[in-house]
Amino acid sequence: RRAFSLGSTAAGVLALAPSAIGQVPASIDTLPASAPVTRLPLVAKEIDWRLLGPDRPATRHFCAYDGEPFKVFRFNRGTRLAVDFENRLPDPTTVHWHGIRVPYLSDGVAPLTQEVIPPGGRFSYNVPLPDSGFYFFHPHCDETGQVGRGLFALLVIDSPEERKVAFDAECFIAVKDWRLGDDGQWIAMSTDEGAATAGTFGTVRATNGSIVPPRVEVPAYGDVRVRTIVADATRVIDLGCETEDAALIAVDGQALLPPVLLDKLPDGVWRMGPAMRADLQVRVGAPGTEVKIQDYRSGQPYLLTTLVAVDKGLKKTAFKPKSLPASTAPQPDLARPKKMEYLLQVSAGPTIVSPALPADDPLSKALVDSLCVGSKTHWAISRDSWSTQDALRLPPPLEKLTAGTTYVVACTNVTKHVHPMHLHGHVFRVLSSSKKAGMPQYLADTVIVEPNESVQFAFKATSGNWVFHCHILEHMDTGLMGWFRVT
Ligand code: C2O
Ligand code: CU
Repeated sequence: RRAFSLGSTAAGVLALAPSAIGQVPASIDTLPASAPVTRLPLVAKEIDWRLLGPDRPATRHFCAYDGEPFKVFRFNRGTRLAVDFENRLPDPTTVHWHGIRVPYLSDGVAPLTQEVIPPGGRFSYNVPLPDSGFYFFHPHCDETGQVGRGLFALLVIDSPEERKVAFDAECFIAVKDWRLGDDGQWIAMSTDEGAATAGTFGTVRATNGSIVPPRVEVPAYGDVRVRTIVADATRVIDLGCETEDAALIAVDGQALLPPVLLDKLPDGVWRMGPAMRADLQVRVGAPGTEVKIQDYRSGQPYLLTTLVAVDKGLKKTAFKPKSLPASTAPQPDLARPKKMEYLLQVSAGPTIVSPALPADDPLSKALVDSLCVGSKTHWAISRDSWSTQDALRLPPPLEKLTAGTTYVVACTNVTKHVHPMHLHGHVFRVLSSSKKAGMPQYLADTVIVEPNESVQFAFKATSGNWVFHCHILEHMDTGLMGWFRVT
């Protein structure tokens, strides 16, 4: 047995909602008990931060892990993190390890896998890192408010196999806009109008917290690994760049095999919604030349970052996309999958598939106290909505699944807005889309479903209670979330 506990208040979940949660799934570990353990003290706290630049007022109540905005954590695959988390925020929070295959009691979803961590509280997370790639972590409670004010961190998992695929430079692009007034202070993160449509957009656009798009010096004629993430609550980007020598080599941290030249993608871009990651391999040219990496989503390209080539003695060679080592996540077995179909829908108020819990039920009280639910219901998955203050109850699982079985989900968006759908605890294979014929299959943990599009993806189920939700944070806060119980 390891010395630290696996999800230290897990027993509290049972005390909260035995009837709603029912049979408790096994919390399956994804690394052997012998895996090396790294202790990771982690603190969530507020700081003052000069988001708008040095001569502007500091933004108060900025949130950051360890007080360092955009901190990059880096570990080796096969490591187990024993995370000793402390909440120094004035509000309750949790930590969710987005895309990482953790045992579900460390998944950070209040009230489904743990109770919220109150101000001043601590929680031990058991975070095995079974797969290499580019991930992030963020709270799973009042996400619109806490992520909106900066609370997330980047997580890169390296492996010896992956290090053999050499790049000449690496750079990060974290797209995150901010809801700030002219005085540099926060304005409301959510609006009812935004929550019911495409989301409430930032007033200030930025890359890596910089309003001036970063300029990064890289070796001339070199291959740059550009790790891109949309950490915004709302914004969808069309990632592309001004060179033919660029390839998409990983999606959501999993190798894309074979890699695909950006020019070969529809419109030469990769569409990314909140929480999605993409690794690009970008070749830069002669010393003094630049490559602009841009968001082409709206008419005018929006500059995210400029790569500036400087002479480091490299010689010009032909561009060749690199294949990263294949994903180590369990692959779906497509011989005889079980199929499920869901509609992403607008909801004019709380839906009625399951009744609301009575106000004196301990779970409804925990939901209210936790501040983990939005105020209104605007969205539903196949007629059922996640809890909001409109209807405080844990909806029944979308489906009860059997561990080790492969499922194919067909998700159809009958709303007017894009929904990047994220499944916790799994890497899935995107099989097909009704709108993108001929698209290669790929692995991901979040997939965009466009209006009137039907997307199919497959996964091999792992034991646990796992949520499935839209990552436009106001959408999940206002109903667009369900869960699977896998036993
Ligand atoms: Cu990053 Cu439930 O999500
Ligand atoms: Cu959505």
